[in-house]
Amino acid sequence: MRKMTEDNLRAAFAGESQAHMRYLIFAQKAGGEGRPNVARLFRAISFAEQIHATNHFKTLGDLGDSSANLQMAIDGETYEVEEMYPAFNAVAKLQNEKGVEQSTNSAWQAEKVHAGMYQKAKQAVDSGKDADIGDVYICGVCGWTVEGGAPDRCPVCGAPKDKFRKF
Ligand SMILES: [Fe+2]
Ligand SMILES: [Fe+2]
Repeated sequence: MRKMTEDNLRAAFAGESQAHMRYLIFAQKAGGEGRPNVARLFRAISFAEQIHATNHFKTLGDLGDSSANLQMAIDGETYEVEEMYPAFNAVAKLQNEKGVEQSTNSAWQAEKVHAGMYQKAKQAVDSGKDADIGDVYICGVCGWTVEGGAPDRCPVCGAPKDKFRKF
């Protein structure tokens, strides 16, 4: 693919991905306002943006088999853990931006767990098996992630056990 076309497609993938997420957040808000039709409209168009993003991603040639995809996931999470979030969090502290300090710290703590889980999964896949992953619990408040069972309180944000969602 020619360079400019590839750059354009990457920008389109980023834009569609963000629109997908933004519309899901807007849908949740509309639901909370008691406007189910607005919520449904946002969810429907969010799904269309997901399809656009998926098509752009595949056209870029970035979709591999699960071993390659897990490696891409490990690389992304590791970059976030080792470089991105420590730097973002330090800047937020320096600039006394409490909200940003908290949201970057929450993500940073969870990404550490994600990187480890993906590594474990990749080892299994590379030896010809499916991943041996038990129930995964996600804190619905901060996104902290744990395998096995939910704790009584989230170690990152303190949310109670019933805020965790099981996968
Ligand atoms: Fe992550
Ligand atoms: Fe949490």
